[in-house]
Amino acid sequence: MSKRYTITAALPYTNGPIHIGHLAGVYVPADIYSRYLRLTGNDVAFICGSDEHGVPITIKAKKEGVTPQDIVDKYHAIIKTSFEDFGISFDNYSRTSAKIHHKTASEFFKNLYDKNEFVEEVSEQLYDADANQFLADRFVIGTCPKCGYEEAYGDQCENCGTSHNATDLINPKSAITGNAPTLKETKHWFLPLNKHEAFLKEWILKGHKKDWKPNVYGQVKSWIDDGLRPRAVTRDLDWGIPVPVEGGEGKVLYVWFDAPIGYISATKEWAKRVGKNWEDYWKDKNTKLVHFIGKDNIVFHCIIFPSILKAEGSYILPENVPANEFLNLEGNKLSTSKNWAVWLPDYLIDFPNQQDVLRYALTANAPETKDNDFTWKDFQARNNNELVAIFGNFINRVAVLTNKYYGSEVPEPSDYKTIDEETLAALKAYPAVISSSIERYRFREASQELMNLARLGNKYLADEEPWKKVKDNPERVKTIMFVALQIASALSVLSEPFLPFTSHKLKGILNSFNNSWSDVSSSDILIPSGHTLQEGKAELLFKPIEDSEIEKQLEKLEASKKANEAAKKTVEPQKEEITFDDFTKLDLRVGTIIEAEKMPKTKKLLVLKVDTGIDIRTIVSGIAESFKPEEVIGKRVTVLINLAPRKLRGTESQGMILMTEDETGNLVFVNPDTSTSHNNGIEEISNGLKIS
Ligand code: MF3
Ligand code: ZN
Repeated sequence: MSKRYTITAALPYTNGPIHIGHLAGVYVPADIYSRYLRLTGNDVAFICGSDEHGVPITIKAKKEGVTPQDIVDKYHAIIKTSFEDFGISFDNYSRTSAKIHHKTASEFFKNLYDKNEFVEEVSEQLYDADANQFLADRFVIGTCPKCGYEEAYGDQCENCGTSHNATDLINPKSAITGNAPTLKETKHWFLPLNKHEAFLKEWILKGHKKDWKPNVYGQVKSWIDDGLRPRAVTRDLDWGIPVPVEGGEGKVLYVWFDAPIGYISATKEWAKRVGKNWEDYWKDKNTKLVHFIGKDNIVFHCIIFPSILKAEGSYILPENVPANEFLNLEGNKLSTSKNWAVWLPDYLIDFPNQQDVLRYALTANAPETKDNDFTWKDFQARNNNELVAIFGNFINRVAVLTNKYYGSEVPEPSDYKTIDEETLAALKAYPAVISSSIERYRFREASQELMNLARLGNKYLADEEPWKKVKDNPERVKTIMFVALQIASALSVLSEPFLPFTSHKLKGILNSFNNSWSDVSSSDILIPSGHTLQEGKAELLFKPIEDSEIEKQLEKLEASKKANEAAKKTVEPQKEEITFDDFTKLDLRVGTIIEAEKMPKTKKLLVLKVDTGIDIRTIVSGIAESFKPEEVIGKRVTVLINLAPRKLRGTESQGMILMTEDETGNLVFVNPDTSTSHNNGIEEISNGLKIS
């Protein structure tokens, strides 16, 4: 029976491109599910968009010396293209900087505020006096109160997944200056999760949610059992959606308040475009809402967002939240900062038109019930031993032989033998088997069943050997080829959710587009005698991946590893120590300031951490009267690195940053490049070096 579904995939943060971990954990399974539901005749809204608020974006912008808007524009475009390239079939890919989202989220907040669903409270929050800023979310790092992980963020620990308040962190440190924060009073609005505890217990624990994945159910249960506390849904930041109520000036909505509402705004945007009613997808009790996410998002989708929807009152709640575990890469955690990842744009350069290979490898090895490892060897094996040797080989034999024997026309079967009947009966069972796996969110299993169907075809041809029988028994071969063509046709339909590009190609080869998912189990003939396949030589669906291609990928990772190790070491200066008179011996380098803090009890000194390209070193610089620490982070500078180290107030300075004055007498950096890719604020350079 046809149903209505709203399927959401976690909105990715627009602070970098998408990598295989995102694809495996969220977007490929969500896409398989959505494509499958459409194919089986359901009404589907598959919704996603860019998550463009939040601290990670502000930090990235600061690092690169550009505005947050520049960052989100850049990555929104890159991410959107990657999704299109990989065939992720969103009905709408929106963004949270869109007007419709600001309006929707703002109204949502106002509505809950008017209904007294928030608790307004002045409380002491972490504050960085040097950076002149409250420290929330990723602006603060400290020890997780629950698991002891030392790099937990203010709102969440990525190690154990717990979500907490920033003031719960043990030994908090500012991510901006490294300072231990002080406390400062500020007013915020809190969502009293404790008030929703009874509802959550009823809905999740006593409801039918036991069919949720054990990892999801288990996490949620443990949080509820621990007791829920009010969570602030506003922040003292300047990037985000302004708090739309009195007293909210200068504050924005917490990113995890606005982002999930992004699913709703994106649905509205889509519905308007295609002439549908968005409320059908969010307020009709018969609509099934399913959130695809990674495991670090569980608390937000299973506790906080449902509480928000419940407080509003007119929305449906998720039917399921099939969160995946994490994907590792060659034995190590995927990491953006360590460049330990396979970025989708890079993949497509190295493996053009091989999107389905990655989709398949990631699905066959998806981290559904536990963290899993992606290895290039496994990727190669999945391609060469399964896609090429089984699926591709079967289709190629069918196309080539049909062309050779019958001029591409589907032959007429005559006498069916038992093996033919058994094969056709087995074929008819596949849609139900694959459906059952997909409907239980077991995409790995589903992909293996699909491969089993190709295996069935391959084995059938290998057993029947039409190429040996064609001379002596041409009638028999007609039947064999007819049966094989039915399998090929079934594959073109059933592969669509998993391998959309391949399915499309295969339908082209077969010159047949008309079968539905249920036809495969119900109709005796999927491709009739007399039908003509595509003229000419059939293209290959897959091609083998060579060892050299895999080695190239492993070398890339090896290079990242080396770069990370080099970044850790403190390398000795490259040249012998020089004095200022030895000017010509200066070893000048282009560096980037990656950390800055004020030297305590001094007026002029900043302690900088500078990435010189060969190492990361501490440089004490007398520029504190001209620059605030947060202004210089991310700046590209010219560094004299072989000056004899010297101690300034107990801190060893391992080099010197070259400064000069602009025409108005302001102190400026000797900026090594006036045309960096990200236009990092161009300074005029005048002559005359000035030492600071
Ligand atoms: N941007 C978040 C992340 O990458 C996910 C947001 S999901 C949404 O972890 F529900 F908020 F949209
Ligand atoms: Zn933790």
